[in-house]
Amino acid sequence: MVDDLEHVEKQAGMRLDAASTVEELRAAETEVLGKRSALAGLHARLGALAPEERKAQGQLLNGARTRLSELAAERAAELRASERAARLEAERLDLTEVLPGPRRGHLNLVTQTRDELEDVFVGMGYTVSEGPEAETDWHSFEALNFPKGHPARSGFDTLYLDWGDPESTLLRPHTSPVQIRVMQSQPPPIYSIMPGKVYRKDTPDARHTASFNQIEGLVVDKGITFGDLAGTIEAFTGAYFGAGIHARLRPAYFPFTEPSAEFEITCAICAGAGCRTCSGTGWIELGGCGMVHPNVLAAVGIDAEAWSGFAFGFGIDRCAQMRHGISDMRILLDNDIRFISQF
Ligand code: PHE
Repeated sequence: MVDDLEHVEKQAGMRLDAASTVEELRAAETEVLGKRSALAGLHARLGALAPEERKAQGQLLNGARTRLSELAAERAAELRASERAARLEAERLDLTEVLPGPRRGHLNLVTQTRDELEDVFVGMGYTVSEGPEAETDWHSFEALNFPKGHPARSGFDTLYLDWGDPESTLLRPHTSPVQIRVMQSQPPPIYSIMPGKVYRKDTPDARHTASFNQIEGLVVDKGITFGDLAGTIEAFTGAYFGAGIHARLRPAYFPFTEPSAEFEITCAICAGAGCRTCSGTGWIELGGCGMVHPNVLAAVGIDAEAWSGFAFGFGIDRCAQMRHGISDMRILLDNDIRFISQF
């Protein structure tokens, strides 16, 4: 019986060890420790033994049963732990956002456009100048030949600042005051562009936002003519927009230039056919230009008999809009990553 017990215990131990799930282990436990187990069979044989012998064999059997029960409990703990680990692994939520490749930020489209336009003019020999966004009335209007109460002032929906005398300080509605600052700070010849942010009390629509960017251009030299101005506009629109986009000049009025013109380019959204963005005209106004008015040269102490010049000013945002076929300008200010990341 001792030999039988050793064999039975060994077999039972192997059977418990072999269980690979908690469920299999439960079945194995019933098999090796239950009523119909080999161990129970040995128990049944005890009755036939002499009392002394029965006691000794009984103790051996109980020892084996205890060891097997302990083994089963140990094995159950192991299996439960590994099953739990597997379940947690399967249920794990991966909250890290994995994006293909490194993602880098980049300059906003308007800044990129400003840089490209600057490159075009720097390539033509211009310097780049800047001026303040909060300006004086004098630099923005007075020195540019808009006397107080001049009707052309109302064409600029100016935002005034609560600073100094009433209406003496404003958010510049155009970059033309920088012309004045450049002419005050250096003698001619001048070939300079002046990019920057401007503000107007405009109601936003497909072509307008209340804050936008302009590039002003100023040339003051000997013998400068309107032909030089027209050629410069042609050269820069051709260089920036490429073939297929044409520029045209139309007579206009600005107090600080005489004669003055508006310049328009083919609407790139509809290739000149007419669409919502260009109000069906096929042309988009890019800016204004003209020959610097003698009163403006006089305001900064430049002799209008000896020098002449031209000036122009146009929207950078408008250029980006046309170059990239953006039908609504308001999206430039939305900061929508789906839009921004396209450029
Ligand atoms: N400052 C004018 C505007 O904002 C544009 C302009 C600039 C016109 C230079 C003539 C000369 O509309």
